[in-house]
Amino acid sequence: MVTEIAKAKLNLALHVRARRPDGYHELETLFAFVEHGDLLQVEPAEADSFALTGPFAAVLSEEGDNLVTRAARAFREAFGGGAHAITLDKHLPVASGIGGGSADAAATLRALGRLHGVAVEDMFAIADGLGSDVPACLFGRTAIGKGRGEQLEAVAGLPGTPVLLVNPGVAVSTAEVFRRWDGIDRGPLPADPRQGRNDLEPPARAIAPVIDAVLALLTAQPGAGLTRMSGSGATCFALFDSEAKRDAAAEVLAAKDWWVLPSRLT
Ligand code: C5P
Repeated sequence: MVTEIAKAKLNLALHVRARRPDGYHELETLFAFVEHGDLLQVEPAEADSFALTGPFAAVLSEEGDNLVTRAARAFREAFGGGAHAITLDKHLPVASGIGGGSADAAATLRALGRLHGVAVEDMFAIADGLGSDVPACLFGRTAIGKGRGEQLEAVAGLPGTPVLLVNPGVAVSTAEVFRRWDGIDRGPLPADPRQGRNDLEPPARAIAPVIDAVLALLTAQPGAGLTRMSGSGATCFALFDSEAKRDAAAEVLAAKDWWVLPSRLT
């Protein structure tokens, strides 16, 4: 049995540069990861099975098509390896801009790769076919992403930085947020992400105005530095200058009945 943590992904900045003829968008984004995430367990078995546990299990279906079973199928088509029993302990909210499903898919590939001796480098083509954020999650390190997000270049991160993730409980459709982007290129990713933006914030806030309230309350917390929405939302995050201030902020935000995850950047 192998265990993998499907770490939550953050976009410290996300610049949308252009709409593409294929319907996707040309991005420049800074990916980072936090220490916490979903827990995935995989073991060889007589027949395939998939079980879901954890606080967000009910939102996903064990029967239907999800990114874990799709990743396992794609792995088997490419590399073989037989049947597996997979358990996903779901701690991250679904459709929330922190790559839950993408991280789960990448963790599935990593686990199967470990079981069957396939190197991570050899699984990027499969990851790309599963979703725009799956290659970044498979890479698993702080990186600049271009193209759909699949062209990755490692950069220095801020390991150990205290971070607080907050989700107000509204699922936002990534496709709809991208559709509502105004088409204006506001320029490339700067070297310092604090001078960057998330260009998906305005369209996501139009769909889910509660994001305004989350960002306002996060920004107001003592010790909060870079504060922004991640991905297509609705999860927002703030970096903190100490774990004590992050934990104090977590109490304030949790009192709103919002999901909070105090963690650290990896
Ligand atoms: O690649 P993935 O299936 O995760 O993307 C979900 C949706 O998000 C796409 O169908 C597309 O509408 C939108 N998207 C986009 N440009 C990107 C990434 C995603 O328009 N770079």
